[in-house]
Amino acid sequence: MAITYEPNTRTFFLDGAGVSYAFHINDAGYAEHLYWGASIPHDDLRYTCCRQQACWHITPPGRDGEPSYQSYAPELAFFGTGDYREPAVLPENAAGDRLCELLYAGHEILPLKPAMAGMPSMDGGETLVLHLRDGITCFGADLYYTVYDDCAVIARRAVYRNGADAPVTLRRAYSFSLSVPGRDYEVLSLYGDWAAERRIQRTPLPRGVVAVDSKRGMSSHTMNPFLALVSPETTESIGEAMGVSLVYSSSFVLKAEGTTSGETLVTGGIQDMDFSWELAPGEVFETPEVVLAYSNTGLGGMSRAFHRAFREHLINKRQVKARRPIVINSWEATYFSFDLPKLKAFVDAVVGTGIDTFVLDDGWFGKRDDDTSGLGDWVVNTNKLEGGLIPLINHVHSKGLKFGLWFEPEMVNEDSDLFRSHPDYAIGVPGRSRCYGRHQYVLDLTRQEVRDHIVEAVNHILHTHPIDYVKWDFNRTVTEFWSCGREPRRQAEFAHRFALGLYDLCRRIVEGNPQVVFEGCSGGGGRFDPAMLAYFAQIWTSDDVDAEERTRIQYGTSLVYPLSAMSCHVSACPYGRSISFETRGHIAALGATGYELDPTHLSTKELEQVSNLTVAYREVQELILDGDLYRLADPFTGNRFSFFVVSPDKERALLTVYRRLVDPLHQVERLCLAGLAPDKIYTIPELGIQATGATLMRVGLIPVFPTEDFRSVQYTVVAIDATK
Ligand code: GLA
Repeated sequence: MAITYEPNTRTFFLDGAGVSYAFHINDAGYAEHLYWGASIPHDDLRYTCCRQQACWHITPPGRDGEPSYQSYAPELAFFGTGDYREPAVLPENAAGDRLCELLYAGHEILPLKPAMAGMPSMDGGETLVLHLRDGITCFGADLYYTVYDDCAVIARRAVYRNGADAPVTLRRAYSFSLSVPGRDYEVLSLYGDWAAERRIQRTPLPRGVVAVDSKRGMSSHTMNPFLALVSPETTESIGEAMGVSLVYSSSFVLKAEGTTSGETLVTGGIQDMDFSWELAPGEVFETPEVVLAYSNTGLGGMSRAFHRAFREHLINKRQVKARRPIVINSWEATYFSFDLPKLKAFVDAVVGTGIDTFVLDDGWFGKRDDDTSGLGDWVVNTNKLEGGLIPLINHVHSKGLKFGLWFEPEMVNEDSDLFRSHPDYAIGVPGRSRCYGRHQYVLDLTRQEVRDHIVEAVNHILHTHPIDYVKWDFNRTVTEFWSCGREPRRQAEFAHRFALGLYDLCRRIVEGNPQVVFEGCSGGGGRFDPAMLAYFAQIWTSDDVDAEERTRIQYGTSLVYPLSAMSCHVSACPYGRSISFETRGHIAALGATGYELDPTHLSTKELEQVSNLTVAYREVQELILDGDLYRLADPFTGNRFSFFVVSPDKERALLTVYRRLVDPLHQVERLCLAGLAPDKIYTIPELGIQATGATLMRVGLIPVFPTEDFRSVQYTVVAIDATK
């Protein structure tokens, strides 16, 4: 049984793959956390509750002499009655007070995880719903918990309910509270920028609150909606790592707090810096889901738990394990400047190389000769493409390739027919100039008529052309956070309503066109989050396509997201450093692969290399789509980068090792593999090695690099019986 309720101790046990989570309802009716970690039997854990009271402690209302709420480890922390830790919820009641004591009011164990209304979430089986209520106002919180028998994660969320007969305003509505014992942790997060996404930051947890957040109306390049608590001694393969990943694409916050009561509290969800939400009597408010991954096998174990959870239970089901296209994308080769003959030559150049999809990027629509005009006008620019898209698509199809097209559905340029006819569709406050970002404005996705317009315009192209693939971009952050479609007192609902509008668009366009493969993008990887992956099985990881830079970007991204989610292309060398075609191919093969260069400029030898790389990619694509990732060398801290991907049955694996700089002393560096079956015998044909998994993991092997900077090698590791 995944979820058990022990009535004698009023304890809930949630048992997933290698992980247990437990809390109980204490004498005060409070849902008090007991344990989250490696699997344990169902002992009475209440002995772990420590009731030491600080001399300044505040007793709960009407219960003088009883322990303070602050002395309990919360499943959902609340404010105003003696608990000064970060609350998960702050409802403003009709009287103006913000009090709520959320105590046990019942529970249900559902056989199947209910889908969320309006937001993407993990699927799943048995689900606990814990009902908490305030006895005075009847404000309620339903906490949902789902465990999984195939991955060490727990999906959690809160649904708030106004049980009063007057409106309530939510000033904060986070998704969860999580209490873990002790404060001796480090906080790990992923920060970055355009072209430098998801760098790893690890800092000791101080007393007080540490926040990871976005206020940009998008999950952002700047901070990813992820945070982990790790022990100071945790490495890639050893020690505890507790990861929190928020399934959300708009402004968010995740916090870790080293509390005065001795434990660490993690909480967060929708960003509340600029948030309020009015709930009419009887109305509910759904918060985004959070996925908690537990590992006692280091960061690698945490990442593999997230990867499996997202692949099996969240990412676009139709596409997550489907053979991915190998694309050639026009952007870096042509930018806005192309015509039909140029594009035809482009397509002709890759015929026979194994590249199977041609993607026409920005510039094909409206008056789009640069980035100052045309966005919003999803009408083919016949100055560039005489006769429209059909002659090009026919040409592409006649060469046996599929056809892909770029859109940026959520945006508009001032110089566009859409803006001229509907200026109010762009977000902006009357009487104030709007902020520009890349010369464009963001459309007000909170309004139904704006979404209807976008769906109609994009669908018109998709329904009148045989399009196989779409790249969906989002190239600026949100500003002004205001909609003419809403009353003044409800304007702070904007950022969340923008997310709901985005999900509605994705549901209607992505799910409404199941024949099309969709790739997400946001000025590179600015909206690389679990919620977007529910629609886009792959997301453009970064506009930085330099292989050296990509080792770090892809390494950081892999802390949370599977390789199958990362779109990675071979490009020309952007920074003047010369990196071999093969190395660029190896790094780009660690995801959904493709090319981002002008193929008419490739030499015969390079075209041959493309053919070799695509053949090699097709041979290992199942590992990329479904393998377990072991990170063997960290490019942030060393001279090498290495990803090792092992099939779930441990029969096959792919080793990629990249060396940044040649060591003038030619010191031999071994690399120990991981994740293999110790007793199986493996062969590595490229090195002529035959050895057991145990030997390869304990003794290691020596990668043989060409004597040149920025070179990689790729080896296949195959169990002997699998070679037959
Ligand atoms: C963004 C994307 C690029 C490209 C351009 C087009 O920057 O990340 O890949 O599509 O937009 O304008």
